[in-house]
Amino acid sequence: MNIQWYPGHMTKTRRQMEQDIRLVDAVCEIVDARIPLSSRNPDIDVICGGKPRMIILNRIDMADPAMTKRWAGFFRRCGMTVLETDCKNRKGTGQFASAVRELLKDKIQKYQEKGQAGRTLRVMVVGIPNVGKSTFINAVSGRKSAKAENRPGVTRGKQWITVEKGLEMLDTPGILWPKFEDPEVGLKLAYTGAVKDNVVDVETLAVHLIGLLGREYPDALESRYRFTVPDTFEDYELLELAGRKRGMLISGGEVDTERMSRVLLEEYRNGKLGRFTLEKPEEAEADGKEE
Ligand code: G4P
Repeated sequence: MNIQWYPGHMTKTRRQMEQDIRLVDAVCEIVDARIPLSSRNPDIDVICGGKPRMIILNRIDMADPAMTKRWAGFFRRCGMTVLETDCKNRKGTGQFASAVRELLKDKIQKYQEKGQAGRTLRVMVVGIPNVGKSTFINAVSGRKSAKAENRPGVTRGKQWITVEKGLEMLDTPGILWPKFEDPEVGLKLAYTGAVKDNVVDVETLAVHLIGLLGREYPDALESRYRFTVPDTFEDYELLELAGRKRGMLISGGEVDTERMSRVLLEEYRNGKLGRFTLEKPEEAEADGKEE
């Protein structure tokens, strides 16, 4: 991760967040739509207690649109309100306020019954690093910059920013840790660039990624690198096929797989290969994660 987490940080962050969460009516969790499971914090349900929850599937511009719809359905079935956004281009963010009001409609009704109609609703944004929390806060609040203090456990006075009349948001997001003890999660965070390349060997990363794409999105590989994905293959073989087609050869006619690895990762990250989602709702269901 581009952030170093230590057990002490995690404990401090968790405590801080548990306190902050008491101040809000709802928690808005941002995830990367390309890896909606791996970009979640493993303890998020405990940390949020019973607060109403919203999931923001962010970076939909880079994810497989059909899979984004399926993930939205999955999280709705888990009882959460879902918003699909491309925060960079401010798509979907305009629906935030109405989505919060929908999520909190029972509470709003109770306030009305108690003669407190219009009472301010408060929301907190949480998520692991690099999912787009700051970009989201800026887009929703209309602020120019709100880069969070990107160090775990660092706190400062709480400030609220107005989204619209009667709706406020904590101006700093809650930065959580990913499930980094799971190697699969680590790989997915590295493909998407949330973890720096120097943490994982580039070739190992590219071999896993091309294998995944070869199984789930063979057409994309075929049209970009102009080779046919065999019915059965070793992941490394695909990297060699792609490298050979790109003319990346070293002495003896071998493929410069390291160079091809860098190209693959770069083209994947900048969207040249296409829009992919690297995990399916079934994986969450199999894990028993459905609440
Ligand atoms: P964080 O607070 O959760 O750590 O994430 P942050 O908002 O800093 O966003 C991390 C990177 O992701 C930023 O890019 C941001 O522009 C980009 N981003 C956020 N939301 C989206 C989205 O919906 N789609 C796409 N394509 N990108 C998104 P950066 O390279 O760090 O900065 P910049 O090049 O945008 O200046």
